[in-house]
Amino acid sequence: MEIRTYLDEQRHKIEERLAALMLEPIGPFAQHIEAMRYSLFAGGKRIRPILCLAGAAAVDSGEPTRQRALPVACALECIHTYSLIHDDLPAMDDDDLRRGKPTNHTIFGEAGAILAGDGLLTFAFELLSGVTSAAIPDPTRIRIIQTIAHAAGPLGMVGGQSLDMMYEGQQVGYEELRRIHRSKTGALITASVACGAMVAGASGDQEAALKTYGNHVGLAFQIVDDLLDVEATTAELGKPAGSDLMADKVTYPSLFGAETSRTMAREAVQEAIASLTPFDHQADPLRALARYIVDRRK
Ligand code: IPE
Ligand code: IPE
Ligand code: MG
Ligand code: MG
Ligand code: MG
Repeated sequence: MEIRTYLDEQRHKIEERLAALMLEPIGPFAQHIEAMRYSLFAGGKRIRPILCLAGAAAVDSGEPTRQRALPVACALECIHTYSLIHDDLPAMDDDDLRRGKPTNHTIFGEAGAILAGDGLLTFAFELLSGVTSAAIPDPTRIRIIQTIAHAAGPLGMVGGQSLDMMYEGQQVGYEELRRIHRSKTGALITASVACGAMVAGASGDQEAALKTYGNHVGLAFQIVDDLLDVEATTAELGKPAGSDLMADKVTYPSLFGAETSRTMAREAVQEAIASLTPFDHQADPLRALARYIVDRRK
């Protein structure tokens, strides 16, 4: 499978559905909706929604399952985009470029950006709980909502972001650094794969294997993000290179150096792929995604 073609195809389908589901910038809330749309449609690799669709396809590659998974995939992208808007705020990483464009707060102001993030987060749960996702049986849907809420919340992404901020400028050991990466980034990535699997009616064993895959891939994703911060250019990334150094963040390269960090990312990807042993060729996209995550240049 040619990963570039696969990613382009999947991204296209997600963009199409996101455009159909997202609110239009009309009426009294037009300006707020415009701020949400500005970041949501600024590009982005759409890795989390793609992982959700690939997680579903590993269990059941039929079209009806993919159609049911698409709104869940879109909700995950809304939550991810919200996390980026807030991550860039002056009170957090204080960055001025994201997805190749000025960050949300530089265009809409801090209050506008905070609210755009709040809007995207809340809208995601409307997509999951409302008519948009009604084709998913309710008991499964409740588990999906709970899984995403947990992953995005205080013991997941938000908790990880708070540790990331708390440890700026401090010495942190390996255990703690891994905890930050697993929670701030890994949790939502794991939930993306797991929720795809749930939509497809995965067995307990299948779901557990895919969560293991997600845990490894999620960690690898953030290690590589740290590496790219030191190794890639602002033009390549569409976000400021060297931002972690400026903010004195604890990162894998800061703790282990670039070479060891890359080895650790590769090992995590190997473990991710190994956890897919129970799956046949239907999990090939997940295998290719794992390799892409460590080889990517943006
Ligand atoms: C960046 O995520 C933030 C992290 C959790 C590392 P992505 O690298 O997926 O950003 P986009 O969505 O492609 O812009
Ligand atoms: C952010 O990590 C993780 C999120 C939950 C948004 P980073 O702060 O390293 O992400 P980038 O490098 O700004 O995209
Ligand atoms: Mg950050
Ligand atoms: Mg950041
Ligand atoms: Mg980063």
